[in-house]
Amino acid sequence: MIVHDFSNETSILNQFILEMRDVSIQKDSMRFRRNVERVGEILCYEMSKTLEYNSKVIKTPLGEKTVNAPTSEIVLCSILRAGIPLHHGILNYFDSVENAFISAYRYHPNGGDDFEVNVKYLAAPSIEGKTLILADPMLATGKTLENVLKALKTHGIPEQIHIISIIGAKPGIELAAKIFPKNTHLWIAAVDNALNERGYIVPGLGDAGDLCYGPR
Ligand code: URA
Repeated sequence: MIVHDFSNETSILNQFILEMRDVSIQKDSMRFRRNVERVGEILCYEMSKTLEYNSKVIKTPLGEKTVNAPTSEIVLCSILRAGIPLHHGILNYFDSVENAFISAYRYHPNGGDDFEVNVKYLAAPSIEGKTLILADPMLATGKTLENVLKALKTHGIPEQIHIISIIGAKPGIELAAKIFPKNTHLWIAAVDNALNERGYIVPGLGDAGDLCYGPR
């Protein structure tokens, strides 16, 4: 997996991540959702530099110009719930992609800290031979991505996969690197070292779904 980690770059992205992490700012859920969206916009712009383009001639009112136009057939699949604003951020730039949604929720089979991930809902077109963008806001243990990847196999094998995440933890990135094809790109705004005993990223930002849409 090719990891594009923007943690150590200084740009306005730092401000959006700061606001999402800061307990005194993150409570404003409208602002939180907007920041998720903005991170989606920035990361997908970076990702766009690796897509394929063909030159084509277009007519302007005053003449003709040869320009580059993206050629990839893209399916954007977002993981509910916090994937929704990330999805919108990516759609702001890639407005003609096909859309897919998948739900993945954690459950604790023994009532303790250990958890499994259940995929309950998947609405997706064929991804066969296409470019798949997976929007997974919080790449914590990687178990969600593992289950999502399994579920999406029923819809074909993509030619290329791009994962877009806001914050990841090292164990999740390591698992993703094991289970995804080697040419998969991970675009990630920040990487933290640790997970707590319930599989949440530390220091992270808390539960991104709750911060976007309120507690379950
Ligand atoms: N999902 C979240 O929203 N936050 C985490 O830290 C881990 C998973």
